[in-house]
Amino acid sequence: MKLLDQIKENASKLNKRIVLPEGEEPRTLKATEIILKENIARVVLLGNIEAVNAKAKEIGANINGAEIIDPKTAPQREAYANLMVELRKSKGLTKEEALTLLDNPLYFGPMMIKSGDADGELAGAINATGDVLRPAFQFVKTLPGCSVVSGAFLMFVDKKFGHDGILVFSDCAVMPDPTAQQLAEIAVTSAATAKAIVGLEPRVAMLSFSTMGSAKHPMADKVIEATKLAQSLAPDLMIDGEMQLDAAIVKEVGELKAPGSKVAGKANVLVFPSLEAGNIGYKLVQRLAGAEAIGPVLQGMAAPINDLSRGCSVTDIVNMVAVTANQAAGVSK
Ligand code: ACO
Repeated sequence: MKLLDQIKENASKLNKRIVLPEGEEPRTLKATEIILKENIARVVLLGNIEAVNAKAKEIGANINGAEIIDPKTAPQREAYANLMVELRKSKGLTKEEALTLLDNPLYFGPMMIKSGDADGELAGAINATGDVLRPAFQFVKTLPGCSVVSGAFLMFVDKKFGHDGILVFSDCAVMPDPTAQQLAEIAVTSAATAKAIVGLEPRVAMLSFSTMGSAKHPMADKVIEATKLAQSLAPDLMIDGEMQLDAAIVKEVGELKAPGSKVAGKANVLVFPSLEAGNIGYKLVQRLAGAEAIGPVLQGMAAPINDLSRGCSVTDIVNMVAVTANQAAGVSK
């Protein structure tokens, strides 16, 4: 069975409640019909109830079975606002400010999760990444022992690369210029994502323009330091670097440039040195090589909140709801 089918089948067994804050958005509504028909998750749409129903009718999306909540009038507002004030005490958030924030579905969604009223969230079809992530950072926060949220993509490429043609790319979505410590954490959380969602044995390559000291530059030094930190954070994982992309994924080049490495030539998790490299890199592979790209799968967050690219398709939304449901259960395939 193909990985995506497995992810969807697993999601349907989990019966998770996923909140979609962009409830009046057409692709989200079309995706909702498919998610409900295929029983992938329970769906909560946020928005003005009449407007959501009217838009669904206009585009012919059958959303019967989805729950619709209007953040501006929902009875949960009072409890959520109190919790927000409590969580942002150190920042001086007032109840009035919290109630205003709750008008925004991108704040209401994370508060549903924080209060146990939803298991995960997916947004970003019409909102910028930062606007989706900021409420999640502020109120859902990171996993214990993890200081940084990052975004991974599952890339489906030629079968000769990675794990039977699947590679995990990271960070492609969040941290513009990670420190060596943050890069090390990204490596460890990316390995966990690869294991949990793809079910592979991670071989993590810390990418650079230099392989094992071939170039001398502060940018390569950062990756060398990050590799050491990641290895000490997770001594049982196969993490190696710094290495160039070809040394990471091509057997002959790996053997030549990094002889003896357990990762070189066989990497299935690629950790990019910066967001520029990661974001450009995944889009190059997607657009020029025609690879299917699923993500970003956000990792390091205390609950699954995922962000879509604004260019996303209905299928992307369906797939990411299934991934989010799997993350919510913290399970593998
Ligand atoms: N992990 C965990 N927490 C974080 C992270 C992170 N990566 N980044 C910021 N935070 C926290 C901060 O600690 C802060 O918490 P606090 O309020 O409790 O003190 C809070 O989030 C806000 O921090 P700021 O630095 O003010 O965050 P800001 O809103 O300026 O930036 C953001 C965060 C929006 C994610 C920024 O890093 C960003 O814009 N990144 C790029 C996103 C992007 O455009 N990606 C490319 C497109 S995605 C795609 O193509 C698929």
